[in-house]
Amino acid sequence: MSRHCVGSISEIMPGSRKIVEIGGRSIGVYNVNGHYYAIRNLCPHQGAPLCLGITTSFVTSSGRGDFCFELEGEIVRCPWHFWEFEIKTGCMVVDPKTRTKTYEVTVERYDVTIDEEQLFIHV
Ligand code: FES
Repeated sequence: MSRHCVGSISEIMPGSRKIVEIGGRSIGVYNVNGHYYAIRNLCPHQGAPLCLGITTSFVTSSGRGDFCFELEGEIVRCPWHFWEFEIKTGCMVVDPKTRTKTYEVTVERYDVTIDEEQLFIHV
């Protein structure tokens, strides 16, 4: 199994992300609270570069004036029309059937890597 190094752990600190190009695909690699996740940098709505959107939280409310911030740093908001996706699953927050592709990320010593075989599996 071939693995592609996308950077070192010092490059992708908690709360940050790095966009890489592998095999013609643009992929965003995120560090969420010390765990690494990778999603395709392609919004399933109209093809925006999803990973250029801000990383945020999911806001819920039980009523007027009440706001609760959940999943802090686990949501990416598309820069074009603001659809929101969970970084861990690639699923759209309000419609989980809509998703962008995710890739398993492994840390080998100080390197963050993605299995290249995953790149060509369609979901
Ligand atoms: S292209 Fe991403 S929400 Fe429209």
